[in-house]
Amino acid sequence: MSKIIVYASRYGSTRRYADKLSELTGVEAVDYSKVKDISAYDKVVYMGSILAGTVTGLKKTVSKMKVGQELVIVSVGMIDPKDPENVSGIRSIIRQQIPAELYDESRIFHLQGCIDYPNLKLSHRMLMSMMRSMASKKPEIELDAVSRTVLATYGQRIDYVDLSALDVIVPFV
Ligand SMILES: Cc1cc2nc3c(=O)[nH]c(=O)nc-3n(C[C@H](O)[C@H](O)[C@H](O)COP(=O)(O)O)c2cc1C
Repeated sequence: MSKIIVYASRYGSTRRYADKLSELTGVEAVDYSKVKDISAYDKVVYMGSILAGTVTGLKKTVSKMKVGQELVIVSVGMIDPKDPENVSGIRSIIRQQIPAELYDESRIFHLQGCIDYPNLKLSHRMLMSMMRSMASKKPEIELDAVSRTVLATYGQRIDYVDLSALDVIVPFV
């Protein structure tokens, strides 16, 4: 069975997970912008960071897949994937990005990444500053998990990457 790990990572945490998963499984990990022919593999493991409510590159990558290919999706975001409410929020994002049949057939996992506010690119820094400002005006009860996390972490360098969390994913690769 031919397999590939494809990753989309702006700040490196998803790449760290993808490289480790590659090491653990012997499956090559390739940046999504460099994959030549995604339809040539029986199984695609897609690892993408969540930026502003979208799993980076997922829609584009899936659009190049053909019927019958197996897909494993791994999202990497800032919110805690041990909280079932957070998981259902992330899954609704993924559901909007891929066809319903593929969503139903795919294995989906969630990991936590890192965020380094001082080193974000300017447009991302501005977006996070806007999110923080909007969140700070809302009552606590109305805040979603992303807003709560932005308020709690803003301005800092937070690294939630836990490579041991890959252990549950390895058998599905
Ligand atoms: C501009 C921006 C928007 C983000 N939006 C979300 C989001 O909607 N949901 C979430 O869980 N994490 C969000 N994050 C956090 C990233 O998913 C997290 O930093 C992730 O580890 C980035 O992956 P990378 O290091 O591979 O680029 C956002 C981060 C940035 C910089």
